[in-house]
Amino acid sequence: MRSVVLALETSCDESAAAIVQGRRVLASRVASQAEEHGHYGGVVPELASRRHVEALPLLIEQAFAAAGVGWEEIDAVAATAAPGLVGALLVGVTTAKTLALLHHKTFLGVHHLEGHLCSAQLENPLPPGPFLVLLVSGGHTMLVRVDGPGRYRQLASSVDDAAGEAFDKVARLLGLGYPGGPAIQAVASRGDPQRFSFPRGRLRRPGGGFDPYGFSFSGLKTAVLRQVQALEGEGPLPLADLAASFEAVVVEVLAQRSCRCAADQGLDTLVVVGGVAANLRLRGELDRRCRDQGLRLLVAPLEYCGDNAAMIGVAACERLVAGAASGLELGVSSRLSLEHAELLYGAEAPF
Ligand code: KG4
Ligand code: ZN
Repeated sequence: MRSVVLALETSCDESAAAIVQGRRVLASRVASQAEEHGHYGGVVPELASRRHVEALPLLIEQAFAAAGVGWEEIDAVAATAAPGLVGALLVGVTTAKTLALLHHKTFLGVHHLEGHLCSAQLENPLPPGPFLVLLVSGGHTMLVRVDGPGRYRQLASSVDDAAGEAFDKVARLLGLGYPGGPAIQAVASRGDPQRFSFPRGRLRRPGGGFDPYGFSFSGLKTAVLRQVQALEGEGPLPLADLAASFEAVVVEVLAQRSCRCAADQGLDTLVVVGGVAANLRLRGELDRRCRDQGLRLLVAPLEYCGDNAAMIGVAACERLVAGAASGLELGVSSRLSLEHAELLYGAEAPF
């Protein structure tokens, strides 16, 4: 079967290369730029593109060496084509297209969120569907119903900040650095999650009542800011309690709304992926709720929650064995909904 893929990921601030055979990772290399962007408090797009250009050649070389394969064993070259930072995506896609052309391989542009979804397969195979996916990253917070390979229906999303973005912004205002998720998790582990009461971001429906699974995190971020302002002048900020109280609300909201959505949809499996899926309190709370509710829980392995190329490779392999390929005229896009991922393999390039 044609299914060994060299995959590249450059949609944001991680440069990554992997060689994947089906669901099996032969090699995976990630070079994070987070520390450098941390000096600016967030990702600087122009800097990210430049660092991807510098990092990719060595990462690809290392991936081949670690996998112990040569070009003759590679069937296709894949790269994240959407969504993400346009300049950053262009580096990965241009590199992948060039290598595919040079070595006479198939090229596949991959949807970044389909990649995240596939990260859950790196431990156990996913059921054929239907199942519910909670996708929580720095750019997205959404609930997606999957009815089969490539058949996605978005049931909810955040109307403002993504959950990871909220972690990053709150970490910045608490002076904890970037990326915020791991920093908040570390500080919160010593704090009291009950000390401060923060809002749960419920969305009013136009006709009355509340949207049962919609997400909103910008009010929560503002509430933390107000609390910090109220505490100013009262000695050192209780950082651990602030971080723990914030983290507890995000975790409760994500876990409670996902489980409720799965129940309402009559689905028996919840899959959780994306950078924020690495959060230990979230993993614990999901485990508890899913057990109570009789839901099967599949969470991406810790090392593949954040951006990586192995997940892009798994997604590409699935498309490849289904007969898909992208044209070399395919470009990149900062926005493309997961529901339209198959446009990347159509007869006409969507961008
Ligand atoms: O999936 P990802 O690597 O990149 C995007 O596609 O956005 O997600 C990055 C996000 C960042 O906002 C980061 O703060 C968050 O995931 N994150 C975490 C944790 N580790 C990473 N959030 C909460 N707890 C963590 N342990
Ligand atoms: Zn991501």
